[in-house]
Amino acid sequence: MKVFITHKIPEIAEKLIKKNGFDCVTYSKSAPLTTEKLGKLARNAGGIITLLNNRITREVIDKLPNLKVISNYAVGFNNIDIEYAAEKGIVVTNTPDVLTDATADIAMGLILACSRRFCEADKFMREGKFKGWKPDLFLGPGLKNKTLGIVGAGRIGMATAFRAKAFGMKIVYFGRKRKTEFERETGAKKVSLNKLMKTADVVSVHLPLTKETFHLLDKEKLELLKPQAIFVNTARGEVVDEKYLIKLLRQKKIFCAGFDVYENEPEVNKSLFKLKNVVLLPHIGSATIETRNEMAELAAKNVINVLKGKKPLTPVNN
Ligand code: DGY
Repeated sequence: MKVFITHKIPEIAEKLIKKNGFDCVTYSKSAPLTTEKLGKLARNAGGIITLLNNRITREVIDKLPNLKVISNYAVGFNNIDIEYAAEKGIVVTNTPDVLTDATADIAMGLILACSRRFCEADKFMREGKFKGWKPDLFLGPGLKNKTLGIVGAGRIGMATAFRAKAFGMKIVYFGRKRKTEFERETGAKKVSLNKLMKTADVVSVHLPLTKETFHLLDKEKLELLKPQAIFVNTARGEVVDEKYLIKLLRQKKIFCAGFDVYENEPEVNKSLFKLKNVVLLPHIGSATIETRNEMAELAAKNVINVLKGKKPLTPVNN
């Protein structure tokens, strides 16, 4: 039985798969893996390990008649038609937990970078503009005693809140379920999305992308942000009406926004590059050496388990 990995990932994945008696092929060319190519190269595969930018549509699934498991090398799985996979009896898995801390670190990092204007200040230094200490050089709103609004209090949202609490922030959150233990440990309060957008000094987005969350943070919601607000997204770009957010930033209607994800990845709206009040990262939420290794190990174990007729460790569609 063959396993196909759509991109080079830490070698532990291939090693584990081979050690368990399966063939394993990794697509290691730099040319993008088109649907056609994926269909051809993975034709006989029983399992595939995919990246979040491989769109595993109905069309792709139909090209892979032996497929038993799609193991996504990411926690988000909006790139996969999970309903169709389930219909075909194909298990879909993701990599939760192992990337929670790394991603929460990036969210907190973006919050700090926005509040203390790291990128503007770094650029200023590189341009040789630093002529000595000044009382008003790169002032920004501090975090202590401010309110952080967590939009989507799942694992990563909660981990971000714990970090923010250590910076002296108060927490409000919006989510489907009440998290009583989280409330007890952080003093967080569950509020409506409108209230969160109106009252938070910092808003951090942690929702998965689904039909329901697409543009959940639309014009109407974004307009509720305070003039000094910081807005950070480390989840999925499509959850936010990015064009409208850019408009607010251009008109300086909010203080700053930190992006790790974009609405039309890998394309980035060029007008973002012209703005000073943004911090732009290239989707590196889970990019620590340790985390990426753990993701590879988990993705491989999910494939191995399914191909051996065992339960996957982290399934999403059954
Ligand atoms: C995920 O796992 O969904 C992240 O976006 C990757 O860093």
